[in-house]
Amino acid sequence: MLSATIIGGSGYTGGEVLRILLQHPHVQVTQITSRQYLGQFVYSVHPNLRKQSELKFISPDAIEPTDIVFLALPHGEAQKKIGELAGKFNYIVDLSADFRLKDAATYQKWYGEEHQAPEWLDKFVYGLPEIYREEIKQAKYVSGVGCNATASNLAMFPLVKAGLIDLSQPMIFEVKSGSSEGGASGNPGSHHPERANVIRTYAAYGHRHTAEVMQILGAKQVSLTMTSVDLVRGALATGHATVNSGVTKKEVWGAYRQFSKENPFIRVVKEVKGIYRMPEPKILAGSNYADVGFDIDEENKHVIAICAIDNLMKGAAGSAVQCMNLMLGLDETEGMRFCGLHPA
Ligand SMILES: NC(=O)c1ccc[n+]([C@@H]2O[C@H](COP(=O)([O-])OP(=O)(O)OC[C@H]3O[C@@H](n4cnc5c(N)ncnc54)[C@H](OP(=O)(O)O)[C@@H]3O)[C@@H](O)[C@H]2O)c1
Repeated sequence: MLSATIIGGSGYTGGEVLRILLQHPHVQVTQITSRQYLGQFVYSVHPNLRKQSELKFISPDAIEPTDIVFLALPHGEAQKKIGELAGKFNYIVDLSADFRLKDAATYQKWYGEEHQAPEWLDKFVYGLPEIYREEIKQAKYVSGVGCNATASNLAMFPLVKAGLIDLSQPMIFEVKSGSSEGGASGNPGSHHPERANVIRTYAAYGHRHTAEVMQILGAKQVSLTMTSVDLVRGALATGHATVNSGVTKKEVWGAYRQFSKENPFIRVVKEVKGIYRMPEPKILAGSNYADVGFDIDEENKHVIAICAIDNLMKGAAGSAVQCMNLMLGLDETEGMRFCGLHPA
């Protein structure tokens, strides 16, 4: 059995990493941190884990070396102590945005602050197995993924990979997301009377995840509009792009089918009848699947690419554990074969 530490274990993504690893046959979480809930049982914060774990939260200052560590900390924290952490742990998966972007200037542009450990940026592999599987297998340090970026990237990447998209044309994503994206600590916008029943566009343009989408898809102009909707879990990205001249619906179908064949957590959803014709996040809650679908207006070369995920799973903890499996030479689906609930 390999040992794992979760730093930031009282948060939503840290709790999800623990939930997944409690079912994992080869990796056991031996320490988990929280400063606010020091000494308390993990199930006092994550009540779904009652009778699943007797672990208690310890201080981040008390951690001992284990085989792997998951950093589920707010943005900006991991970069402050990455050198010290690398001295303690052979493998690091950082769920934050600290090591997702490839260069310090891009980081400064999108995050509005200087990176504290720019020399570490190229030591990290971007943690999306569907795109960087071979690199992740060789990596010791893997970054997390942005949830909105992941829904957008997985919607469009199959077509980019197949060479069907005209990358000189604008690529536009509309992303709808649930409240758990904001993490466990509240703010005025997450207060129930303010958040319940909303459809609220909070970033029409310039959301930070745009940088990750540009980095992955390589389009010249990417725009991402973020809208909060009345969900706890879930993100749905709807992308619009221009296909190259002569691209047909059949080719687009082929690109998604091939991508799904290559990736165990990608499912193509495009039905002609019934009520589940397109991807939707509701049935994915708690699962690591990403459902992708599309339509195309061949005459106008306009493709609409859609992806639904659970932001805490494929958009965070699920991808992180999938990366861990690859880094440790395990089956990448280990611990994550749960398919979601219906009805939910
Ligand atoms: N939520 C999502 O959908 C999502 C998706 C993708 C990526 N992410 C990223 O994943 C990371 C974690 O997100 P989350 O939603 O799980 O956040 P969260 O619910 O707010 O949890 C943050 C955790 O970090 C701990 N913490 C905060 N400051 C700390 C510090 N200085 N030292 C040690 N521990 C500290 C907190 O516990 P204590 O204060 O008790 O120590 C808590 O356990 C973020 O960087 C986020 O951007 C989140």
